[in-house]
Amino acid sequence: MDAEAPILEVRDLSVSFRSQGRDVPIVENVSFAVGAREILGIVGESGSGKSVTAMTIMGLIDAPGVRVTGSALFRGQELIGMPQKALRRLRGRKIAMIFQDPMTAFTPVYTIGWQIDEQIRAHEKLGKAEARSRTVRLLGDMGVPDPERTANRYPHQLSGGLRQRAMIAMALSCNPALLIADEPTTALDVTVQAQILDLIRTLRADYGSSVLLITHDMGVVAETCDRVMVLYSGRIAERGPCDAIFAHPGHPYTAALLDSIPPLTGPRPERLPSIAGAPPPPLERPVGCAFAPRCHFTHDTCHALPPLQRYGQQDIACVLPKEGRPMPPRVTEYAQ
Ligand SMILES: Nc1ncnc2c1ncn2[C@@H]1O[C@H](COP(=O)(O)OP(=O)(O)O)[C@@H](O)[C@H]1O
Ligand code: SF4
Ligand SMILES: [Mg+2]
Repeated sequence: MDAEAPILEVRDLSVSFRSQGRDVPIVENVSFAVGAREILGIVGESGSGKSVTAMTIMGLIDAPGVRVTGSALFRGQELIGMPQKALRRLRGRKIAMIFQDPMTAFTPVYTIGWQIDEQIRAHEKLGKAEARSRTVRLLGDMGVPDPERTANRYPHQLSGGLRQRAMIAMALSCNPALLIADEPTTALDVTVQAQILDLIRTLRADYGSSVLLITHDMGVVAETCDRVMVLYSGRIAERGPCDAIFAHPGHPYTAALLDSIPPLTGPRPERLPSIAGAPPPPLERPVGCAFAPRCHFTHDTCHALPPLQRYGQQDIACVLPKEGRPMPPRVTEYAQ
């Protein structure tokens, strides 16, 4: 297989749930690729379909009446429709996932060291002592102080930041080719958040991993990702390399997300500029552009669904660039 081929290639992924007697689209025609050693960000407000996208790819959506169409190729292997047994084999060994809340990854009744040892031993024929020495090394690599002693502690005895590091150690224990991190720093304070992001950035250098990083925060994307896909109400609003998108966002929603990042330096403004309102619930998605009710630039042509179109290196689902209308100057210039 081509070494430069994407690790993960998702094409036209759509997910709908059955509700009130009809199929409600949650994720619509989402396509993206994660290259070797690449960090791709998926960003969008709460409810935009980020977790449903990730869980679908991992085969973890099992709600009754769920309908999934499209394709997700992991190293050329189709994940959509793959039998659960085969998916379980991939999860943890080739694809690992970390969540916002590490308590969902660990059970409270065993030490974290024991749990990481078991994860290693479930995938590889290693003795207990060998597994433990790998666990200790991994915890050390993740910046856990005194890893030998920390391995013998229970999840509730660790701080949030340490638990998050331990969860990443567990996720990496089998050298996954792809790490999916769903809001891994949301519950953490800024200092710990910066440390965890730093850790995720070094993963590709030290472990050669590709990362799919899900967040609602463009600041996290700026610090970590190579490319980004902006989701709004289950659809792609914009997609492209971070430097291009941060310099010239093509979709008003992307611009609004960028304007919601607190400035890196200087005084914090009293109120951060951002967009009023919230994304529509899936059952109430308007016809045409779903962002229209919150957009400052809505006009007649927005009432047809704007297709995703290529402009330079960016793909943008908005009528403005096509009509040659420039986006207004951003409120906050954000230097990467
Ligand atoms: N099992 C489910 N059944 C029905 N609707 C769901 C289910 N899981 C998520 N949703 C809906 O899908 C939408 C997207 O959710 P989610 O992917 O969790 O958003 P995000 O991770 O971007 O915050 C939300 O409106 C949510 O209510
Ligand atoms: S298509 Fe229209 S409503 Fe939608 S984001 Fe672009 S300008 Fe705003
Ligand atoms: Mg989520």
